[in-house]
Amino acid sequence: MKIANIDLGERPVLLAPMEDVTDPAFRLMCKRFGADMVYTEFVSADALIRSVSKTEQKLNISDEERPVAIQIYGRDTATMVEAAKIVEQARPDILDLNFGCPVKRVAGKGAGAGMLQNIPLMLEITRSVVDAVKIPVTVKTRLGWDADHKIIVSLAEQLQDCGISALTIHGRTRAQMYTGEADWTLIGEVKKNPRMHIPIIGNGDVTTPQRARECFEQYGVDAIMIGRASFGRPWIFKEVKHYLETGEELPALTPQWCMDVLRQEVEDSVNLLDERRGILHVRRHLAASPVFKGLPNFRDTRIAMLRAETKDELYRTFNDIRQRFFPG
Ligand SMILES: Cc1cc2nc3c(=O)[nH]c(=O)nc-3n(C[C@H](O)[C@H](O)[C@H](O)COP(=O)(O)O)c2cc1C
Repeated sequence: MKIANIDLGERPVLLAPMEDVTDPAFRLMCKRFGADMVYTEFVSADALIRSVSKTEQKLNISDEERPVAIQIYGRDTATMVEAAKIVEQARPDILDLNFGCPVKRVAGKGAGAGMLQNIPLMLEITRSVVDAVKIPVTVKTRLGWDADHKIIVSLAEQLQDCGISALTIHGRTRAQMYTGEADWTLIGEVKKNPRMHIPIIGNGDVTTPQRARECFEQYGVDAIMIGRASFGRPWIFKEVKHYLETGEELPALTPQWCMDVLRQEVEDSVNLLDERRGILHVRRHLAASPVFKGLPNFRDTRIAMLRAETKDELYRTFNDIRQRFFPG
């Protein structure tokens, strides 16, 4: 599958853009486990054109993680165009426009999924950004604003007419936020529309290799994108890719191996930020990791693991977990 002239191979599996999650270290780790393309977290166009240094840092990408997309969000055409040109200087493979973020501080101001309530503006921004940069521009959005306005089938055509190179659809409405189940039927409808010729990337609730295959086979999408299932489980890309390629499950990964990966995540995160912030940053991954699910009498250890403030403290808990639950 190709986006513009970027070849992502057969049945690509992408790492979703996620605020506070898809930093350079995590992207690289997912890439090493097989993610075919990775995305930065969304970057505010407003902050970018004001040269806010924390925002500018989000444009840091490395050749090792390519192909990589940088995603921006905003609600004003001139600002988005200017931000797009700044992003282009950072030399990502793709510039992705976020028209899907449901959170109030973004959508409430008309940006992200808020744009689903102002389609003319969404299309104007898209067209203007496509015209302003030379790199491929893609869009990520949702099914529509709410259950009564699931407009994605016609919206996809309109966005394609603006000149985008691919479209990612998260199978929820803005009103759903992250609740309920992602509905892939409309993603399939978009894909089946004979007018559509750009790649369609399906997203939402892909949490197992079997579901990944089903999404390709039932809905015909060109690629799938995985978000939350990568928390504390960046090796999901290895599991999914193996299954897609061979039709068989990867032999079970040992908990010791998985804990080594999590330890590496801690190291990477601390190196990227600092000890305190790095550990705070990986807590979400430790809390979600399947490695610790279902361990008997784990509650106190889990609390200690999620409260640790230094690497020493955290690794003592890790050692304790290994000795108690995964000896050998
Ligand atoms: C913590 C978090 C942060 C997110 N940040 C972004 C973002 O910056 N840009 C974006 O397009 N989507 C963002 N999303 C949405 C995901 O990219 C994805 O569309 C959504 O989680 C559904 O996929 P999943 O079921 O595989 O997680 C975020 C989701 C989560 C959970």
